[in-house]
Amino acid sequence: MSDDDVFDLGSEHEQVVFCNDPLTGLRAIVAIHSTALGPALGGTRFYPYASTSEALVDVLNLSRGMSYKAALAGLDLGGGKAVIIGDPHTLKSEALLRAYGRFVQSLHGRYLTACDVGTYSEDMDHIARECSYVTGRTVAHGGAGDSSVLTAYGVFQGMRAAAQTVWGEPTLAGRTVGIAGVGKVGYHLTQHLIEDGAKVVVTDVYAPAVERVRAEFPQVAVVGSTDALVASALDACGHREGALGPGRALRTGLLRQLRRSDPGRRRARGVLVRTRQAPRYGDLRHHARGVRPGELRRRTAGRRRGPARRTPDA
Ligand SMILES: NC(=O)c1ccc[n+]([C@@H]2O[C@H](COP(=O)([O-])OP(=O)(O)OC[C@H]3O[C@@H](n4cnc5c(N)ncnc54)[C@H](O)[C@@H]3O)[C@@H](O)[C@H]2O)c1
Repeated sequence: MSDDDVFDLGSEHEQVVFCNDPLTGLRAIVAIHSTALGPALGGTRFYPYASTSEALVDVLNLSRGMSYKAALAGLDLGGGKAVIIGDPHTLKSEALLRAYGRFVQSLHGRYLTACDVGTYSEDMDHIARECSYVTGRTVAHGGAGDSSVLTAYGVFQGMRAAAQTVWGEPTLAGRTVGIAGVGKVGYHLTQHLIEDGAKVVVTDVYAPAVERVRAEFPQVAVVGSTDALVASALDACGHREGALGPGRALRTGLLRQLRRSDPGRRRARGVLVRTRQAPRYGDLRHHARGVRPGELRRRTAGRRRGPARRTPDA
């Protein structure tokens, strides 16, 4: 740890809980940013952070983002997030997940957990054996199933809105789209984009993730230049607007770093980060209400956006 005071780092946060279970190797941090609007909802990220400080900074930032996301979606929910430190491919076990579930349960509903990077609906089933405050369980266990299906759908709709703003048509047809991270969200997003007629270029640090996408969609390229970039890995991967050519659109799940880059420079390059036409928090409404993907598609089928009003890049 650096000398940074944890109270200074999390000065906006209501509660930060460090969970340690040596028997299973569990080291987790739960951050509750705000319960002003309701219990703090946010997924559990299982990731091999280089240090505890890195994990802490991530969970503090992510949980703050969740407060705003829930508020923008008009939900009676606050913002929270959790991280489990370690490589999910080697460290994850039922015992570890259940130990984690007991920690979440000890918060008595102040924090509601869900899937995120490195966690799956099946993991939520294990956690739910010890804990009542879990969403995104498998359908077989009474849950709404894999939430990334809805997340990808929300990202895709946001991309269509961005395309309308930048190119005048709500479609990615004929465009080259890069996806950094083809795990759960990236995989489903690839499918939407291909169905829409886009050329998709993917990258991932985990070779099996790329192989899975290539096996299903052989037309997907693994490297190349892009018209639009979706960060579907971690939100602070270090992308810069330089990754895009002039006149290009960018649509991300959560891309703090780029949003913080110089707006004037972004505008000069024609890079759209996020506008009122391209929000992405609608999926949270559906996650929170346990709406299943097929139902969401039925509800939104044929829905068309009105003509885009061009607003300054936020
Ligand atoms: N799963 C959900 O329901 C959900 C909901 C809301 C937001 N999100 C966000 O969507 C994004 C993706 O989540 P997911 O659930 O698909 O996670 P995931 O773990 O299924 O997939 C993430 C992928 O990114 C890859 N990756 C990690 N670091 C990378 C890097 N530096 N460069 C390229 N690839 C890298 C991983 O190998 C993995 O394949 C995250 O930012 C997450 O917070 C997910």
